[in-house]
Amino acid sequence: MTPVRTLGLPQHSPAVDPGALPARVTIWEVGARDGLQNESTVVGVDVKQEFLRRLAAAGLTVLEATSFVSPRWVPQLADAAELLAALPRLPGVRYPVLVPNERGLDRAVEAGVADIAIFASATESFARRNLNRSMDEQFAMFEPVVRRAREAGLRVRGYLSMCFGDPWEGPADPASVTAAGRRLLDLGCEQLSLGDTIGVATPGQVETLLRSFGTAGVPTAQLAVHFHDTYGQALSNTYTALRAGVSTVDSAAGGLGGCPFAGSATGNLATEDLVWMLDGLGIEHGVDLDALVRTSVWMAERLGRPSASRVVTALGGDS
Ligand code: HMG
Ligand code: MG
Repeated sequence: MTPVRTLGLPQHSPAVDPGALPARVTIWEVGARDGLQNESTVVGVDVKQEFLRRLAAAGLTVLEATSFVSPRWVPQLADAAELLAALPRLPGVRYPVLVPNERGLDRAVEAGVADIAIFASATESFARRNLNRSMDEQFAMFEPVVRRAREAGLRVRGYLSMCFGDPWEGPADPASVTAAGRRLLDLGCEQLSLGDTIGVATPGQVETLLRSFGTAGVPTAQLAVHFHDTYGQALSNTYTALRAGVSTVDSAAGGLGGCPFAGSATGNLATEDLVWMLDGLGIEHGVDLDALVRTSVWMAERLGRPSASRVVTALGGDS
């Protein structure tokens, strides 16, 4: 299929006020972790390894690879150590992994990881469902993880889920979300990723929450955004975050993703859709879109269903 980009449409149309947007965005690719944790079938380690290899070849440099969580809770990622051992170490490529507790940290360190992410909930209901802990208990569980990881020289990201709404508790209160995010940063996380786990946010909420973090003294440079696309708002929400100065965006190749402990969560913002928008805005990202689309078409064949990404659908027809 001829890529639509070559049909004479204005491919590159920078924003009216480019100063209000970052010149470069770091894409934090979560397809192998957020995507494959949610598959009903367990994807083999050989396919995961090849998926990550292709994503790196397409130019992605931050590849969240897997989780060192309880294999009873997430059997899809029980092969975390085996996968890490099989991944090529490439210059400039990071493979962060999710770690919930000290047992997970021990396993991650043994596997040689240099980058971890802890993951908290902004609501009691999801903390219980996702971590089997209350909100206070989750922070107590993370404290030794972050301390030991930092002492060992690891990079530590903090995720905060349910930042905009929760299926059990309804719309989120920005002040409580900001307080929970602050706790993660105070533990020693260098970056905080704000998660719309069930994809309900709209741009006004994103603006309000980012302003709330700013008022609380959190530099925008420490924030990332993580939008699921349940209601088709992920790209608009991302644009809003970019205009507020955020320059790290989470997304998943092909729009894979979801959370096994929040039934209403669907896929993440598709990396291809993000790259298309960044290209249009003239924002650097370092990714080869055609190679990425081919990767998602390849992965869709492995999973036995078409990609949810609009850009993959538009460009990937005959690959
Ligand atoms: P628990 O059952 O309370 O664990 O689960 P426990 O501490 O009582 O331990 C029970 C057993 O599990 C013990 O084994 C432990 O050793 C073992 P036993 O003594 O019975 O033989 N165990 C482990 N084994 C391997 N690795 C470990 C580990 N931990 C305990 N790390 C726990 C608590 C936190 C472990 C569990 O709830 C869990 O693994 N949860 C993970 C859930 C998850 O992965 N969710 C998806 C990721 S979050 C997400 O997707 C959102 C995000 O994308 C952002 C967004 O979208 O908002 C990040
Ligand atoms: Mg997620």
